[in-house]
Amino acid sequence: MLRRNTETLGGHAARQVLRLCEAVGLSGADSTEYARTLLTVLGPAAERPLDLPPEQSFLSDDHTPVEFSLAFVPDADPTLRVLLEPGYGAGSLAENGRVGLRVVREMARRWGFDTRRLDELEDLFFPPEPEGPLALWCALELVPGGVPRAKVYLNPAASGQERSADTVREALRRLGHRRAFAALPEGDRHLFFALDLGDWEEPRVKVYLVHQDLSAADAAGLSRVDGGPRRKEIKRFFRTAAGHDIDVDGFDHPDVPLDRRPGLSCHAFTESRTGLPSGFTLHIPVRDYARHDGEALDRAVAVLRRHGMDPAPLVRALSAVTSRRLQDGVGLIAYLGLVHQQGRAPRMNAYISSEAYEVRPPATVAVPAPRPEAVHS
Ligand code: TRP
Repeated sequence: MLRRNTETLGGHAARQVLRLCEAVGLSGADSTEYARTLLTVLGPAAERPLDLPPEQSFLSDDHTPVEFSLAFVPDADPTLRVLLEPGYGAGSLAENGRVGLRVVREMARRWGFDTRRLDELEDLFFPPEPEGPLALWCALELVPGGVPRAKVYLNPAASGQERSADTVREALRRLGHRRAFAALPEGDRHLFFALDLGDWEEPRVKVYLVHQDLSAADAAGLSRVDGGPRRKEIKRFFRTAAGHDIDVDGFDHPDVPLDRRPGLSCHAFTESRTGLPSGFTLHIPVRDYARHDGEALDRAVAVLRRHGMDPAPLVRALSAVTSRRLQDGVGLIAYLGLVHQQGRAPRMNAYISSEAYEVRPPATVAVPAPRPEAVHS
């Protein structure tokens, strides 16, 4: 009880980062440095006692402004990343965005990267009276050496949902991707516009789309990457992540759409010559289609094994962030994402919640049962 009273958001998240760094094999020095960086980015919010109710945040289900992820690649250690909302608790969305921009620019000065690409978009994503559901998030890739690679996530609906397509088109155009907008598949909404900042081999501009009632077959048709992922591979991932492949392999499974939380696609542009994206990611919100995190982990493990990646770091990572049993909640694994970057083997990302405020209780029924008409038609 006493411990709970003195526990702060920053203390909780910093401890998780320290343990996660260890779980992925980063050095003690890097771990300490990254825990400090996390506290800096959170700013005054880090001091908030956890027994105060959380502020609003779309970043995670329980409104913790922190989410971890592991990016797996075949034949190498996964990379640990952390997604943060620097303006968490700033009072208004406009102020949240101002704090976010300031924090990103401070990081840029500190680590010597430039923010020009972000600066060019400021008027589009930071209007005087922005609309939700976010203003600015940043993600840090916690690579060895203590200097993270940074990414920012912006809100296409900042100037209104009805303007979001125009906002995305104009932002792409300003960054030199004139034909990129036309290359995007249909979606129901633009969710994020993301930029790699800093020391990246091939900095990406990414557009995230929301797809309501997405089926495996729909998902297989979303990539616009030239020579991109095989449809069969996307469908298999979809079904494994969503829990639809309980049947024997080889059987053509009924196409059950995701009718709870929607699936997302992400299209990454790295050059403007072809007008096409060079990366495609499908994100499945596994937490809304699994009874508990034990089930979500099994699915992640199946995907990793199928693509030749070692699941052990994921298992270690989960016990680094929580001591609860996986069956006792759902949402610790928020999303699974299958990443295709042109010319490379498929990768998988697992998004891991901080659960600073709340653990969602496990679901009692298996989700979702294939609908009979889908099975027999
Ligand atoms: N919490 C939001 C959601 O569930 C946004 C988000 C956080 C997200 N982390 C993510 C979306 C990882 C895709 C992948 O949609």
